[in-house]
Amino acid sequence: MNKFNIALDGPAGAGKSTVARLVANELGFVYIDTGAMYRAVTWKVLELGILADQTAKVIETAKAMDIVLQPGPTGQQVLVDGEDVTDRIRSAAINANVSLIAQIAEVRELLVSKQKAMAASKGVVMDGRDIGTQVLPDAEVKIFLTASARERAERRYKEMDKPAITVEQLELEIARRDKLDSEREVSPLVQAQDAVLLDSSNIPLQDVVGKVLELCRAKVTGGT
Ligand code: CDP
Ligand code: CDP
Repeated sequence: MNKFNIALDGPAGAGKSTVARLVANELGFVYIDTGAMYRAVTWKVLELGILADQTAKVIETAKAMDIVLQPGPTGQQVLVDGEDVTDRIRSAAINANVSLIAQIAEVRELLVSKQKAMAASKGVVMDGRDIGTQVLPDAEVKIFLTASARERAERRYKEMDKPAITVEQLELEIARRDKLDSEREVSPLVQAQDAVLLDSSNIPLQDVVGKVLELCRAKVTGGT
C-alpha cells in the first residue's frame, strides 16, 4: 500500500491508541500518540510546581522542552529532555490537569507544528482530539472513534492494576475531561466534517481495526 496519513480522533477511552497501534502495525506505518505530548508538557509543569493557570510559565516551559516520541519495547516511548517519562505521564495527577494545559493556545500551536512535521513524509497513524481538523486536515483517512461514556470508563477500569477509584468515579473523571476538551475555545474535540464516525460500543477491538483497514483500502483504491 502506498503511504498516506490516517487521523484518528475521539474522546478518552474510545480505543484510539489501541486501534491506531494495531492499524499502524498492519500497514507498516508509524503510530503517533499526540496525547502523550500534552501529557509530557503537563508532567514537566507539575514537576516544576507550576500551576495550570500560570499560563506564561507553562508556555515558557513548553517552549524549552525537548519531547521525543520513539518506538520502544512496549509501544511508543516518551522522552523529555532525554528522560524516559513513558509511565509517569499516565498518573492521576496528569489525568486531572492535562486538559487545562491543552487549552492554552500557544502550547497547542507549538505541539501542532511538531506533529505536522512528524507526519510530513506520510505513512502515519496519528491519534488525538484535533488531528482531522487542525493537525492533518488533508489526511487521506479520517476517523472519529467513540463509545458510550460508561463503556469507556469500564474499559479504562479493566486496564488498572489495583484501582484506587470506582468505575463510577472514573466515568465522572472522563466526562469532565471530555467536557473540557469539547468546550475549549481553541481546537475543541469535534468530528471533522469529512471523518467517518465509528461507534465502538459493544464492538470487539478486532472488528474496529478491520473496519479502519477496510476504509483505508477503499480510500487507496479510490472506492470512497
Ligand atoms: O488516552 P486518553 O484518551 O485518556 O487521552 P490522551 O489521548 O492521552 O490525551 C490526554 C489529553 O490531552 C486529552 O484529554 C486532551 O486534553 C489533550 N489532547 C489534545 O488536546 N489534543 C490532542 N491532539 C491530543 C490530546
Ligand atoms: O486511546 P483511547 O483513550 O481512545 O483508548 P485506548 O487506551 O486505546 O483504549 C482503552 C481500552 O479499551 C483498551 O484496553 C482497549 O483494549 C479497550 N478497547 C476495547 O475493549 N474495545 C474496543 N473496541 C476498543 C478498545
